[in-house]
Amino acid sequence: MKQYLIAGNWKMNTTPGSARSLVASLSNIQGLNENVGMLVCPPFTNLSAVSEVINNSMISLGAQNCHPEPEGAFTGEVSVAMLKEAGCKYVIIGHSERRTLFGESDEFICMKAKSIIREKLIPIVCIGETLEERQSGTTFDVLKLQLDNCLNEIDSVDFVIAYEPVWAIGTGIAAEVSQVDEAHSWIADYLESKYPGKSSEIKILYGGSMKPSNAEELLSLKHVSGGLIGGASLKPDSFIEIYNSAVRALGN
Ligand code: PGA
Repeated sequence: MKQYLIAGNWKMNTTPGSARSLVASLSNIQGLNENVGMLVCPPFTNLSAVSEVINNSMISLGAQNCHPEPEGAFTGEVSVAMLKEAGCKYVIIGHSERRTLFGESDEFICMKAKSIIREKLIPIVCIGETLEERQSGTTFDVLKLQLDNCLNEIDSVDFVIAYEPVWAIGTGIAAEVSQVDEAHSWIADYLESKYPGKSSEIKILYGGSMKPSNAEELLSLKHVSGGLIGGASLKPDSFIEIYNSAVRALGN
């Protein structure tokens, strides 16, 4: 049976108080399915508030970033050990906003991935092409370079990939189903050649304007095993509807 992960990337939204209310609305959901995981990734300052609310529920907690070093003189940064003790199971890394706004390189993202795996947390490694790259026909060269570099010398398959075409993030315009199908199939083939016989354990999430109206179709694609959802994850009804789309897609 396919296993899905429906992950909410709250970005720089919510305060501890509003984060508590948001996740409380999600905790009311009836019938979480054991084959569909629900994950929320609030800002660092709201991790403990959210952790208290989801305690003993089936909702998992994740962070949106980390520093690769375990501790030290890195003003403003947060280590994986800190996130682990705060209750996180997942850490998003390599999001396009971090790559473009904060200049993060594939090599730095790879260091983070290794630290996260070493601490037995699960990195969600984001990759994706810009509109310019798609239009110039270099999408798969870009994805290959990002995967080669971000997964360099990583033997474990305890990670998740999120394919997020940069042009679809926060724009309301998701990639077409055929584009998602093509990219996810390509990524699945890449992972199978790098991790023969083990790649089916790696989830490939789609991110970029996933919403209730397109979720079921996207989640029904063979190599889409979940979503990384920004805007729609801040609206409990929408996020729950996307979650329910994954439950329905299980039966497709
Ligand atoms: P979006 O964001 O759903 O608002 O497009 C997705 C993401 O940035 O992870």
